[in-house]
Amino acid sequence: MNFGFGQAHAKAHLLGEHSVVYGYPAIIAPLLSLSTKAEVIDSDKTLIETDNFSGTMFQLNYRFSGIYSLLTELLNFFEEPDLTFKLHIKSNIPSKKGLGSSAAYAVAIVKAFCDYFDYHYSDEEVFKIAQISENKNHGRSSGGDTYAVMAEGPIFFDTNKDATILKLDTKAYIVVADSGTAGLTSQAVQLVADNYEKDPETFGNYFKQMGAIAEKGREEIIADDLKDFGRLMTENQNLLAKLGVSTPYLERLIKIALNNGALGAKLTGGGLGGSIVALTDTEAKAAEIKIALNKAGAPESWISKI
Ligand code: MEV
Repeated sequence: MNFGFGQAHAKAHLLGEHSVVYGYPAIIAPLLSLSTKAEVIDSDKTLIETDNFSGTMFQLNYRFSGIYSLLTELLNFFEEPDLTFKLHIKSNIPSKKGLGSSAAYAVAIVKAFCDYFDYHYSDEEVFKIAQISENKNHGRSSGGDTYAVMAEGPIFFDTNKDATILKLDTKAYIVVADSGTAGLTSQAVQLVADNYEKDPETFGNYFKQMGAIAEKGREEIIADDLKDFGRLMTENQNLLAKLGVSTPYLERLIKIALNNGALGAKLTGGGLGGSIVALTDTEAKAAEIKIALNKAGAPESWISKI
């Protein structure tokens, strides 16, 4: 019996979501406690099973066209277009929360098929194939999520220069909290594109400022200057609000994190719902912020060391 396994984890944007779609850099941290695992097993009939779907390729195309396109591409890549298989996917990454669940699905599936065919892949190869589904899901995708869900450390993602893992010696912790509302990245990306089209000068200027914040943020996180890095996160949040992707739910949680001693806080990912991320320099402070956010109604939250 032939078998393949692949996995990927969640991510949180610390700086630079949205502006990254327009060519500016972003800093993205892995959330290793949340992951997606995919298994491919021989079978005489194709069956795809996830936490919220069970069906054939045909049914998959109807519900999740991004994953359908990805599987079709993978079977062509391995020159086995008629292969029948069972694909089982298990994930504890909440979807529509800005935490990279769609990218983690795509990467876990690509890695599982590479393993099934005993194919030794590079990150670039996995990235190229996984982006097929990401581009379909997001409408327009920077690729930052796809690299971040594979990377073991925080990345500086520059659409021109690709992803560099930041070698950090930092005391930083992040608290990521679900706002309890869903945010669809494709809608957020579309909203920002519409706003940009209506007023390219103003929105282009916001992207530029966000790019400068991410560049500065790289220096500060490398220097472990967390007060300044936190300030940049909050500045980035103000610009995200100007782009139109923040919500009162997100802003309430951001305020609670800051009032409880976070060094900075912002929405993370596409916005319009989803999650926030707050920065601290001790694990104890992170635990306090987590409790405050949960008390304020965040249904789930996670602490991660950077
Ligand atoms: C979504 O997690 C991040 C965005 O910048 C979209 C992208 O980078 O493709 C909003």
